[in-house]
Amino acid sequence: MKLKQPQLPRKCRECTVIHEIFQKPPEAPPQEFKEMRASELMPELVVGGRSMRRVMETIWRIRRSNVPVLITGETGTGKELVARALHFESQRWKNPLIPVNTHAITPSLFESTLFGHRKGSFTGAHRDSEGLARAADGGTLFFDEIGDLQTSVQAKLLRFLQEGEILPVGETKPVRVDVRMVAATNRRIEKEIEAGQFRMDLFYRLAGIQIEMLPLRERRDEIPGLIDHFWRISCAKEMKAPRLSGRARKLLLSYDYPGNIRELANEVRRLVALASARERVPAESLSPRLLDQANGHGPNLAAGSFKVPKGLKHYEAVNELERQMIRSALDRRSNNLTRAARDLGLTRKGLRSKIRRLSLEPSL
Ligand SMILES: Nc1ncnc2c1ncn2[C@@H]1O[C@H](COP(=O)(O)OP(=O)(O)OP(=O)(O)O)[C@@H](O)[C@H]1O
Ligand SMILES: [Mg+2]
Repeated sequence: MKLKQPQLPRKCRECTVIHEIFQKPPEAPPQEFKEMRASELMPELVVGGRSMRRVMETIWRIRRSNVPVLITGETGTGKELVARALHFESQRWKNPLIPVNTHAITPSLFESTLFGHRKGSFTGAHRDSEGLARAADGGTLFFDEIGDLQTSVQAKLLRFLQEGEILPVGETKPVRVDVRMVAATNRRIEKEIEAGQFRMDLFYRLAGIQIEMLPLRERRDEIPGLIDHFWRISCAKEMKAPRLSGRARKLLLSYDYPGNIRELANEVRRLVALASARERVPAESLSPRLLDQANGHGPNLAAGSFKVPKGLKHYEAVNELERQMIRSALDRRSNNLTRAARDLGLTRKGLRSKIRRLSLEPSL
């Protein structure tokens, strides 16, 4: 039996997207999508690894949708850049992208800043103001640090998201605005909800799609491309052509970057600024925190500082070396398995099984 295609009313505006979905075969993202528009409109965005490619694929899939997007991730992971990519990849790209710096808006000024006001509607309202929502009409409103939004104004934002209308201060008639909402936070919103600091209904409204930006230490395949990218840019700006020595590059590749991409970019900028025109930049020029990690916490480089007694068979020497490396990582991290495993480039489970195999438990 042949299934009948569902019939949708032709002129229902709400259903245009559904019509499209039913009428077109599912589209696969083109192979080259990762470098597509983003590279034309945002040459500063590097898509160098699997994780970033997945993010770009999501952006590409929702380019025709108005679904609100919540971008989460540690500081410096590229949330703002991704918000811009979402805007420029969407059909709204010719219209404004208006950033809203949430923690800079006091609750008393929230409504007038966002929804606008009429001249004379309150002391200090010397002229009409259209507000950020109307300024973004047809485009995107980007709420940065949404986790900092005061509880007292969360309901007002929720109402706006639900109704798509604003009521400027001093006006009596609501005004329809067509904006796409993108928000970002480096806080664990779920924890804020549990603590009663963030409304659950607002969270669900904002997180139509959630994009999680992984910390750089969990997407190391991006690091080489990012180093080269920031190196090129810095050299062009400084009009110099220094090169990285092999060891300096190795240290840059193995560092953990708690400040994520922002920290990597700053480190590269600093190296280029300090280098002479054609210098081969030695590892010693790196910031002390990078060298500290290499000396104290660098899993790869630490191997050289262990001594294996002579006369051991190959497997005994390997076990001894492993034992010393693990012991030292555990000591350094006060027996915190997760951190020690990360230093050693192992999974927590992998480290556990090595500890058992090498009989290291008793002193743990
Ligand atoms: N994929 C990327 N390619 C090139 N540069 C990047 C990339 N991701 C981030 N950056 C750069 O890293 C820096 C930090 O990025 P961004 O400001 O987007 O981070 P963030 O997650 O919004 O940080 P915060 O939470 O502190 O606001 C910026 O200079 C940005 O240009
Ligand atoms: Mg940001």
